[in-house]
Amino acid sequence: MIGVFDSGVGGLSVFRELYALMPEQDYVYLSDAAHCPYGNKPVEYIIERAEAITRFLIGKGAEVVVIACNTATAAAVKYLREKYPIPFVGMEPAIKPAALTSKTGVVGVLATANTFKGSLYHNTLEKFASDVEVIEKVGAGLVEFVEGGLTEGPEVEKVLHRYVDPMLESGADAIVLGCTHYPFLESAIRKIAGDGINIINPAPAIALQTKRLLESIEGRKHSSSQYLFYSTGDTSVMHSIVSKIVPSVPDQAFLTVKV
Ligand code: DGL
Repeated sequence: MIGVFDSGVGGLSVFRELYALMPEQDYVYLSDAAHCPYGNKPVEYIIERAEAITRFLIGKGAEVVVIACNTATAAAVKYLREKYPIPFVGMEPAIKPAALTSKTGVVGVLATANTFKGSLYHNTLEKFASDVEVIEKVGAGLVEFVEGGLTEGPEVEKVLHRYVDPMLESGADAIVLGCTHYPFLESAIRKIAGDGINIINPAPAIALQTKRLLESIEGRKHSSSQYLFYSTGDTSVMHSIVSKIVPSVPDQAFLTVKV
């Protein structure tokens, strides 16, 4: 059983890649909708949520937990790894592929305020982005759109222009999606940024990393393509996103829980 969690439905952009790569695995997903967004909450609060959710997922049988949230990874992955004996996969800000492929030497990063504050982000910048100019933008309001099921249209584009335009004006030729909610806005971002921009979603790389990790664990139980989707809040947007990823999930797979 693979546990996956996020502050909301954003982590489903990671689940989508996990499922594409390993549909035969069992998954338990938790959307912490009742406490979303995490992006501007105190770090201690996010650690507390991440720990409660980890316990919940382990209780449901998770042998591995994918922290499908950049903000929660930045705040809690170190703490969780020290405290729990199971492996954790965290989100890495995809600065490296952006810096390596940029021709203009300018890359944009869109993430939450907490992700930019974390040492994980700063270490990644130091390691991989010393030769490029990085334009950082906090995507205020974007998580709320995705949580409400709104991923395109004039309202979304108006907010996206605020973040994407300054990146383009500075000459950026790559935009790193540093929050797992943002891949759901990719076509709206593409519409604004045009075809010449490399939009980088780290989710496929995270799925591959999870696959390798699972292969290294010996004696795993046989999986049976079972999927469970929990939310601490409303399940309707989660339900509609999941239906586009997995065609045949029964309604009973979606449950509201208190965690
Ligand atoms: N999806 C999340 C991330 O990757 C969290 C966004 C939020 O809750 O603010 O950062």
